[in-house]
Amino acid sequence: MNCQIISFINYKGGVGKTTSAVIISRLLSEKYGNVLLIDTDPNYHATGILLDSDVKVTKTFSDFLKSSNIKDCILNTTYANLDIIPGSLETASVEKKVKNKNIIKNKIKTFKKQNLSYQFIIFDTPSTAGFIIDSVITASTINLIPLQPDLSSLNGVKNIVSNIGKIAYYNKRTIHFFIFFTLLHQSISAEKNILENIKSKVSQILLDVGIYFDKSVIEANASGDDILKAYPGSEINIKYDKLLKLLFERIKLIEGTQNE
Ligand SMILES: Nc1ncnc2c1ncn2[C@@H]1O[C@H](COP(=O)(O)OP(=O)(O)OP(=O)(O)O)[C@@H](O)[C@H]1O
Ligand SMILES: [Mg+2]
Repeated sequence: MNCQIISFINYKGGVGKTTSAVIISRLLSEKYGNVLLIDTDPNYHATGILLDSDVKVTKTFSDFLKSSNIKDCILNTTYANLDIIPGSLETASVEKKVKNKNIIKNKIKTFKKQNLSYQFIIFDTPSTAGFIIDSVITASTINLIPLQPDLSSLNGVKNIVSNIGKIAYYNKRTIHFFIFFTLLHQSISAEKNILENIKSKVSQILLDVGIYFDKSVIEANASGDDILKAYPGSEINIKYDKLLKLLFERIKLIEGTQNE
């Protein structure tokens, strides 16, 4: 498998982008290779989860955008094989100054020259439409859209899919994206109905595993524990493992067609 650059995107907030980006990064780094998580959210929640509070952060994603020395912006997390470019509030102001949507893509191209080697680069993103998300979509090999089965989320997805289409057209290439469901509830029948309705409409781009609302996530957040470490066999980790397996199947298919 080539280096996979995987983003978590959705214009709707609170749908599980950060939780998914962190859990997937942890699973990938434990089982499949070196991972770099790039936190592009000015609210930097992923950074807060993955770095101990006593770690001194001097360079962040906004420096990554400005500087040519990328190594300086990378920190080791406490987890083996998992590094991070931390996020910061500054991202919001840099966003207004940088205009080239290829900026992240071009930076990643220089990784090899700077002796940086990752099998997976994961992006956590803000939910505000704009330059950051567009640049992340442009740089990514796969875009993953966590979706809650409600009407406003569906509208958010329509907008992001239409934006992906525009970026693909502008870049004259296919941009791959998949949807998966998050924060599902076991027993709300209106939710079940809309879920089935959406599933039938997006079956071709659906990674068909439902991530349920799981109180272990809330407990881990409240106590500052790592979700994977605290609950190794938990249902939510099993579901995210399944999500990865489905994703790898799609990546194999994509790489197969690219090699034809
Ligand atoms: N499967 C889950 N079960 C229970 N709680 C969850 C689950 N996934 C996410 N959460 C919680 O839901 C809230 C929103 O999740 P998260 O921060 O991952 O979403 P987000 O899309 O990154 O939000 P934002 O747009 O604010 O960055 C968080 O409090 C998180 O702990
Ligand atoms: Mg987030």
